[in-house]
Amino acid sequence: MIIDTHAHYDDEQFDPDREELLGQMHRGGIGMIVNAGSTLESWDRITELTEKHPFVYGAIGIHPDEACTLTEADMERMKALLDLPKIVAVGEIGLDYYWDKSGHDVQKKWFIRQLETAREKEMPVIIHSREAAADTMAVMKEYASGMRAVIHCYSYSPEMAEEYVKMGYYIGIGGVVTFKNAKKLKSVVERIPLSSIVLETDCPYLAPEPYRGKRNCSLYLPYVAEKIAELKNVSTEEVVRQTEINSRRLYGLPEAG
Ligand code: NI
Repeated sequence: MIIDTHAHYDDEQFDPDREELLGQMHRGGIGMIVNAGSTLESWDRITELTEKHPFVYGAIGIHPDEACTLTEADMERMKALLDLPKIVAVGEIGLDYYWDKSGHDVQKKWFIRQLETAREKEMPVIIHSREAAADTMAVMKEYASGMRAVIHCYSYSPEMAEEYVKMGYYIGIGGVVTFKNAKKLKSVVERIPLSSIVLETDCPYLAPEPYRGKRNCSLYLPYVAEKIAELKNVSTEEVVRQTEINSRRLYGLPEAG
């Protein structure tokens, strides 16, 4: 089965047809979805989705763009939600110096706080990092060693990907790998072992070719798996099989029912 390790079905872009779309997943070969947390408002919507759909799991966390809104009370609420049985990770958390919506110090403070919470709870983390390569690596080295983690929507150099792989982390690969101009990400996929790759959509964003620019959803993941298979010179079935194993290890997901 295909596992989507990073989706945002709580997003309002899915309001018109969310249930209908999620109802098509099994037929499309999508066996499990992990819906990542982003804003404070996303948390209730995510727990609701995990309660409604057996194959949907959740992550609870605050995106770096939203870090300036966090309070200690929110951290307490986060800790309670992390104890829910279908919440499998802390995320997405990290640093974003592209949008730069919160100051770098504020972003770092809450990134580290959420890493510490994940360690306390013995849960994996979903890392968002954009134009913050050096600082993200430094924080991960100091605060996340030995933890399970995925560097989601990976956008840095092949060398840095290899360093993350050595640290035991997974690299999240999505629609961008199908883009014609994505030379750097293609060489990342060529360089790192398949045993360190997980599939993700980040939907509704980053739809793969031939849907680039449209609303993304997990049903398009076969295009991503096909491209990875081509780059690694293995079958698409092998990519699906190995990334399923990787995703289960990353999140400690249960065996399929
Ligand atoms: Ni995301």
